Amino acid sequence: MSSKENIRLTQTVQKGGCAAKLSVLDLKTILGQIDFPRRDECVIVDGSHFDDAALVRIASPQTLVQTLDFFTPIVDTPRTFGQIASANALSDVYAMGGSPLTAMAILAFPLATLPLEICTEVMRGCADILSQANTALVGGHTIDDDTLKFGLSVTGTVDEKKAWTNQKAQVGDKIILTKPLGTGAACAALKRSEVDEGQLQAEIASMTALNTMPPGFDMGCVHAATDVTGFGLAGHALNVALASQVALRFQFQSLPLFENTLQFIQKGFLTKAHRTNREFVNSELQISGLSDEQALVLFDPQTSGGLLLFVAEADVETALSQLRARFPMASVVGEVLPHEGPRLRIS
Ligand code: CO
Ligand code: CO
Repeated sequence: MSSKENIRLTQTVQKGGCAAKLSVLDLKTILGQIDFPRRDECVIVDGSHFDDAALVRIASPQTLVQTLDFFTPIVDTPRTFGQIASANALSDVYAMGGSPLTAMAILAFPLATLPLEICTEVMRGCADILSQANTALVGGHTIDDDTLKFGLSVTGTVDEKKAWTNQKAQVGDKIILTKPLGTGAACAALKRSEVDEGQLQAEIASMTALNTMPPGFDMGCVHAATDVTGFGLAGHALNVALASQVALRFQFQSLPLFENTLQFIQKGFLTKAHRTNREFVNSELQISGLSDEQALVLFDPQTSGGLLLFVAEADVETALSQLRARFPMASVVGEVLPHEGPRLRIS
């Protein structure tokens, strides 16, 4: 067993964070072959439209928001990893317009190769974020495994009529993105030891930031929402376009990026997900006037990325100025079009 000081968590795993997910195409192939039991009388939203979380009616209009996310280390500092994994798991509840109540931990830990204090630090990071989210840790499960994995299953609530799904984006809506893009390339650079965590402060601050809305934000102005995570901006946007039966147009120049993003992509700090995310959207994507590096931003797998919010044009200025108090880089990045031609257009 090595001493805690010398251990860099990203060097203990093959793939980090949300880039380690199965691709959308693989998931569709697997799940399409199996008939799972349904409870249509109370399950309002399930996984069939690749929404962020499930909505289960308990006593109308109250619904449960249920979700689960876990992954391998994406940064080297154990406490930071715990913070990012927790903020990322809570995000799917916020992406449904819900308020988290309770969480259960999922922890795989390599007892043979890592000292137990690393586990304590990961859980300390989890507590940091759950206290910010006013969410109680009520249980969990651990397993001795070859590589560290951590995440949460989170339960929250939302009024059924006020829930944000990915199915109600309307033609004419403006699209707001709350956080910059580029955590995938940044974490690939860290894993290859091309940078250290100190050079990724903006990315880490963004990944540990909760996707909760600022106080006073009018939740009713949002028609549809999702968070941008492992499938990248293009993948998550396509899931909204398909579920809402619309097309989406993005302006590349409006997309908020981290200072390092294009440079990291130019240097080839990429993951397998950059390719699989492109494969998923390719037949529905029309790109004009972008360099290869710029196009790769669309497929960059985000860990604990921002929310994509679909807001009526009349409300977008107010929403954006409120959001900027919490998310300084929040920007209007595109609009919703009728569905004719490719589902995703970017210029
Ligand atoms: Co999500
Ligand atoms: Co998720």
